[in-house]
Amino acid sequence: MIVAIDGPAGSGKSTIAREIARRHGFEKLDTGAMYRAVTFAALSRGIDLDDAAAVSNLAQTVHIAFLPRQGSPTLVMVDSDDVTSEIRTPEVDAGVSKVSAYPQVREAMLSPQRAVAREHDVVAEGRDIGTVVFPDADVKVFLTADPLERARRRVLQRHEGEELDENVYTQEVTDTLNSLVRRDRLDSSRDVAPLRAADDAVTIDSTSHSIDEVVDMISSLIESRRP
Ligand code: DC
Repeated sequence: MIVAIDGPAGSGKSTIAREIARRHGFEKLDTGAMYRAVTFAALSRGIDLDDAAAVSNLAQTVHIAFLPRQGSPTLVMVDSDDVTSEIRTPEVDAGVSKVSAYPQVREAMLSPQRAVAREHDVVAEGRDIGTVVFPDADVKVFLTADPLERARRRVLQRHEGEELDENVYTQEVTDTLNSLVRRDRLDSSRDVAPLRAADDAVTIDSTSHSIDEVVDMISSLIESRRP
């Protein structure tokens, strides 16, 4: 079975996909992490992100792997380097939309993404899962949320368990909101595989729903589509 979850930055796709994977025993595929890994690899090797040929060549040759760990977040590896935290920096946030708009970069990511579903039930999250990667997915969800709420959630997640000064919080929410809105605009307006809901996707607005409520909604869809 294939569950596709698409949606804009910070809509909760990762958290929700993780919980769906746990509840139903599915493999989770974070396709955004793959584009982030290529972006980080390019930045760390001094490749100009405007150089489409060099970035595309890197995407075709670099080896990206996910190493699941019991009770801890999955490690993201580029060749033999652990880049799990490095792919979440503001520099990668700022460059990833450019990298993921290159057709050859997207082409290079397709076959490893599809390979995961050949061996496992999978819940895959990204921008083009229901439209391009798995157009025949059994369940397609387009997850949205109000941009300010998405920015707030991102900041709270980043500082989980920390005491946060009110002014620092407000500034971080403003910066995160600007970065999310910019990324959504770029991801939705690119020529290849833009962010959009598949015609047969169920749209869920998570602004006023808890994670558990959204997971329950998607779980009902999964149960109703089970062969
Ligand atoms: O889900 P995320 O924020 O980690 O994704 C990072 C970027 O990767 C996102 O801004 C656009 C790109 N992306 C994409 O183009 N296609 C996907 N299926 C997933 C992510």
